[in-house]
Amino acid sequence: MKIAFFDTQPYDRPSFERYAAAAGMEIVFFEGKLCPDTAELARGCEAVCVFVNDDVNAEVIDRLYALGVKLIALRSAGYNNVDVAHAFGKIHVVHVPAYSPYAVAEHTMALLLTSIRRIHKAYNRTREFNFSLNGLTGFDLHGKTVGVIGTGRIGRIFIDICRGFGMRVIAYDKFPAADSGIEYVSTDELFAGSDIISLHCPLTEESYHMIDAKAIAGMKKGVVLLNTSRGALVDAEALLDGIKARRIGAACLDVYEEEADVFFRDYSGHILNDDTLARLISMPNVIVTSHQAFLTEEALNNIAETTVRNIRSCFENDGVCENELCYRCGNIERCKKDRKERCF
Ligand code: NAI
Repeated sequence: MKIAFFDTQPYDRPSFERYAAAAGMEIVFFEGKLCPDTAELARGCEAVCVFVNDDVNAEVIDRLYALGVKLIALRSAGYNNVDVAHAFGKIHVVHVPAYSPYAVAEHTMALLLTSIRRIHKAYNRTREFNFSLNGLTGFDLHGKTVGVIGTGRIGRIFIDICRGFGMRVIAYDKFPAADSGIEYVSTDELFAGSDIISLHCPLTEESYHMIDAKAIAGMKKGVVLLNTSRGALVDAEALLDGIKARRIGAACLDVYEEEADVFFRDYSGHILNDDTLARLISMPNVIVTSHQAFLTEEALNNIAETTVRNIRSCFENDGVCENELCYRCGNIERCKKDRKERCF
């Protein structure tokens, strides 16, 4: 079996080569992202393997289908970049629902601590033998209120970490978890009552720009906003305005709405064309990491192992396509598990 692997980064190869070899699969690695112009590279392959910034839109799906590709295997949990509805009936789509929720939750806390204790500033200062403490005053997390949006796998682990710091947790989820002991509130209450807000819900039509000018206007002055979920949950222009108006005290972003053209590449020595991103990065109270929250050894191994298993299961004739994103009944992630059969 031959798989076209798009948007390859050097850190992808060791784990995927190991698991694919053990499963007797051949992977052809391409550095470019999957898009209408590169879809042709999948000729002769039964499956394509894609990541978060490959744009698997209707046109790409039609081209892959015409080439005889039978499976789109996301090596990510989020799937907002794949037109799953258009793929229905043509190409199966699978993802990796969980590979290390700890990696993302821990990175979120790392960003928070770095920001509020000014570690990024202190690191640069001491490297130049500047041992002044001026401007490095932080605040205690103990006793602060954190508002968590999305209480799934990652959100819950982040909640546990925050509780370990003695923080009060309030949360909003479209589908609150019964008997979880989590204090659920409305988004307005969450915005008004949180010292720190952390986003852990998927990007959908409904959650697009959930953090917009109106939401920001309803937040506590000095709030710290954490986004390790998906960039388009936040209206970046509104965020900039909120920072300039001193309403947002700090922002930690592992994701950015227009990240696809920038993240995962080295643009040092180049002029960044994205003025909004450049302005955000120039702010003293903004920390940007480039979609790095997932990047641990454990996560990379789990991603490769699950993706290879997903691909195998879809080509084995036992009626199940593991971790298929099922469009048929609208319960996109869960119905397959109940039916124990393929989406189509
Ligand atoms: P999950 O599916 O376990 O949890 C998502 C939660 O969000 C669920 O409880 C769901 O009910 C809730 N939700 C759905 N729509 C909502 C809405 N409109 N408003 C509020 N809550 C809503 O997902 P998991 O594994 O916790 O991942 C969360 C997100 O983290 C993913 O969707 C993905 O975008 C992002 N992610 C980011 C990574 C990174 O490297 N930065 C890596 C992995 C995931």
